[in-house]
Amino acid sequence: MAVVLKSPQEIEKMGRAGRIVHEVLELVRSKVKPGVTTYDLEKAAVARLKDLGVKAAFKGYQGYPCVLCTSVNSEVVHGIPSPKRVLKAGDIVSVDFGVVVDGYYGDAAVTIPVGAIDADAARLLKVTEASLQAGIAAVRPGATLGDVGAAVQGVVEREGFSVVRDFVGHGIGANMHEDPQVPNFGAPGQGMKLRTGMVIAIEPMVNAGKPEVMVLPDGWTAVAKDGSMSAHFEHTVAVTADGARILTV
Ligand code: MF3
Ligand code: CO
Repeated sequence: MAVVLKSPQEIEKMGRAGRIVHEVLELVRSKVKPGVTTYDLEKAAVARLKDLGVKAAFKGYQGYPCVLCTSVNSEVVHGIPSPKRVLKAGDIVSVDFGVVVDGYYGDAAVTIPVGAIDADAARLLKVTEASLQAGIAAVRPGATLGDVGAAVQGVVEREGFSVVRDFVGHGIGANMHEDPQVPNFGAPGQGMKLRTGMVIAIEPMVNAGKPEVMVLPDGWTAVAKDGSMSAHFEHTVAVTADGARILTV
């Protein structure tokens, strides 16, 4: 699939999708506390979507059963909400969510602390979010995907954490996944050049330990092989003449 550049009007539509994604993620954040299940979070998101009359992006995608992905502790991505998964103080939960509004997608993720978390987990969250911001800061017309990946990777590895290699970010627009792939690692100057009108989802997944992941027998949940904690932050961003515009805010 070729890279599809978006017009300013299309980027405005993606901004509407992105704002709803952000709003629902903030609603989910407000519900996260010890004793709540990941399925309670799913129900809160479903109810809000119903009120808004908005369609979720993930449910039904390759048979995925829910509107949220909820990945707890060593789960990296694509955890499936479950009424059996009770959150407890000290856990971290990565919530990934997307919508389609007027034919255009928005996609974002945040990792949320459950009650009080230990210092190592807090540092993992801080560093992963900072790595996303560093990737976003590298976005401008003429910069390369390697510049973005190197910016993310640099922040992560300086802190002794690892970037997951098996999942990457992506172009996004009238489809949830478009070209190009957006790795969270790379070398400055390498890879495709960014152009005004490109819209990409940058989504570092960071393990406190080693980068390897494996998929559980449910066919979805990816976990850190070494059992270490994992965090995930994602924004949908447009490349503009002045640099990145974050759409999922
Ligand atoms: N946010 C994920 C991504 O960027 C989408 C989750 S996959 C799904 O690829 F199957 F759950 F939809
Ligand atoms: Co994504």
